[in-house]
Formats: sequence, C-alpha cells, structure tokens
Amino acid sequence: MSKNILLGITGSVAASKSEILFKNLSIDNNVKIICTDAGLLYLSDDFIKNEKIISSWEDSPGSPHIELARWADEILIYPATANFISKMSMGIADDLLLSTILMSNKPTYIAPAMHEEMYLNSIIQQNIEKLSINHIICGPRYGELDIGDTGYGRLIEPHEMINHFQKDKFKVVVTSGGTMEMIDSVRMISNTSSGKQGRALGMELLSRGYSVTYVHANNIKIIPHAKNISFTDSKSLKNILQEELSDSTYLFMTAAVSDFIPDYKDTKLDRSEGSLNLLLSPNEDIVKEVVTNFPNLTTVAFSAQVEDNLNFEKIKDKGVNYLVINNIAKNKIGSDHNQVSIINQTDLLYTSEKLKKEEIASLIIDNTMN
Ligand SMILES: Cc1cc2nc3c(=O)[nH]c(=O)nc-3n(C[C@H](O)[C@H](O)[C@H](O)COP(=O)(O)O)c2cc1C
Repeated sequence: MSKNILLGITGSVAASKSEILFKNLSIDNNVKIICTDAGLLYLSDDFIKNEKIISSWEDSPGSPHIELARWADEILIYPATANFISKMSMGIADDLLLSTILMSNKPTYIAPAMHEEMYLNSIIQQNIEKLSINHIICGPRYGELDIGDTGYGRLIEPHEMINHFQKDKFKVVVTSGGTMEMIDSVRMISNTSSGKQGRALGMELLSRGYSVTYVHANNIKIIPHAKNISFTDSKSLKNILQEELSDSTYLFMTAAVSDFIPDYKDTKLDRSEGSLNLLLSPNEDIVKEVVTNFPNLTTVAFSAQVEDNLNFEKIKDKGVNYLVINNIAKNKIGSDHNQVSIINQTDLLYTSEKLKKEEIASLIIDNTMN
C-alpha cells in the first residue's frame, strides 16, 4: 500500500545516498523532502532542482511544518547528523525539519551518520538513547567512513533503511559471551569468551534492518536498540532461548556454553576444610535441543577448535544448518580479529582471511542468510 513518506535530509557527507533512497521509495510511495541548509550542500544540483526539495518556510506557502507533519504517514531522517540528533532530542525547532518533527506523532526512523568518535561521544550516545524511547534508530553500521577511516558510524545503505520499516521483517536471535556455572553461592567457572563476535553479528544484523534479540552474558556490553536479554548460567540461557525462539527465524549461537557443569553446593565452601575435589559433569547440548524443539528455525552454530578440521561430524551430530569454525590456536579468544570457515551439512561454503570481527560478521551473514 502506498504511503506518504516525509524524507528528512541533514548535513552529513553521506547525504548523497538519500537520492538513491528517494528514488527507491518513490516507486511505491508518495515522498516529500525537507532538507536542512547543511544537507543541501551534499545533494546534486539536478536532484535539488527536480525534486522540489524544501528547506525553510520561505520555500513553501502557508505553514509547511504543520501540513507536512499531518500529511506524512512516516518520517525518515536519512542521514541524521550529530547536530540534528542532539537538537531533536532537546525538542529544538530552529529549522523547518526540526519543527515538522516536533509537530508529528507519526513513526520516525532516524539513521545516524558520523565519524566513530563522534558517534561514541557520550553526549551523542545519551541523545540517541533518549530519541530511541519514541523513535526507531536505524544503524549506524560498521564500515568505511570519511577521510579513509573505518569504524562504526557509517550511514546504513538505502536498501537497509527500507528493510527497517518493512513491517514483516523477521526476528533473529544472537547469543553472545560465556556462561557462568556456579560452584557454590559465590564462586563459578566460566570461559574467556569476550562476546565480540556475537556483538559484531548483532550490530550488523541490526544495521541490515532485522529485529535483533541479543541474548548476552551478563558481564558484557549490550547492543543499543536491540532487545537485550542477559543470561548467567547455561540453564538460564536455555530458558531464554525456549522463550524467544518460538517466533524467531534465525539463531546465531555464538555464546560459549560450558561443556561441563560443577556439582553445585548451596553454601560458601570453606578452605579450612582443606583440598576440594570438584566434580564436573558433561553439560547437555543446548544447540541440539534447540534444533529438536524448533525444526523450522535456521540455526548457525559456532565451533571454537584447536585445529583446522572442517568438522562435518560435529554439524551432523548437532543437526544445525550452518557451522562457523574458528581455530582458537591461531586466533586467540578475545582478540578483535577472527578467521573462519563456514560449512553446511555437506559442503565448505567459505573460508575467510584473518579480518576484524565486524567484517567476519558481515561475511557470516552473507553466507548463511538468503
Ligand atoms: C565535509 C563535511 C562532512 C560532514 N559530515 C558530517 C557527518 O557525516 N555527520 C555529522 O554529524 N556531521 C557532519 N558534518 C558537520 C555538519 O555538517 C554540521 O554539524 C552541520 O551544522 C549540520 O547541520 P544540520 O544538522 O542542520 O544538517 C560535516 C561537515 C563537513 C564540512
């Protein structure tokens, strides 16, 4: 169904991508544009001339901030500068676009675009967080930035922006980090999984417009604007998955689940009692259970190994759709880099170079999602 879409463009160097977004949106929708003065600097002359963009009250008779706010079914700010995000979060209305947004109660999608340092600035993070209460934040993504830099802050691509407001986008669950298995009331065993690969996957999926549920160890960072749920031990992870997977299409099982479970003592063990023998029993295989309980789910499992073996025995045993294998003898756990091979039940699909975990995340998604 055709919608009335108001496209807001602000003064990022990435603003020229809004020309592609406009073209793609206009196939099925009525699209009008308000551009800030700074945004106009990054649009082509032809685009500005042909598309009757307005940027201030002088460009249109009457009260365009009222009329356009009421006309729009949805508002897209693509790209959104740090300046614009901050003004919007404060309710400032010193230009036509800000005033129109302030008038509107329609769904508003905001796609930040800026350099990584600017994006990570705590004031900008707070302002984005504030906006996310009532609006939908789309990206930014990891990738190439201005002046040849690479990092988070890149504007999501036009087709990714369109994915963000498709109502039928499907839910993806990503697990991340290590489980902590309690020995007694205060002590536990865990592993050194950093959660970096899972987090990078979650961020990349979010950038691509999927609805992401990030199920993460309670000692690692959340993903802003994902649905974040924390786990402690493997039992709590299993319970969360049982709850979350019933309406999910994909699972990326990046979490490092303990292979062994200690015999829990409901007390604080006392060293005055001398040496302690800890009984570790094999843990149940959560992934195998998931595959049995959710046969329609596409499951991507991960295998941290100490050799390069393409582990077809393991993928057959687990019954998952894909297995991502990494050799932890070559790529230390916790590093920012990874090198992976991706297999399905019968074939090797891809072997990567050693790359940043953000780049690996992108390759894993490309090779496991249609
Ligand atoms: C070449 C150039 C590129 C810029 N790119 C960005 C950007 O990607 N993101 C951003 O937040 N600001 C960027 N800025 C700064 C904004 O243009 C500036 O903050 C401006 O006041 C934004 O106005 P607006 O938010 O009203 O559009 C850039 C400035 C220049 C000169």
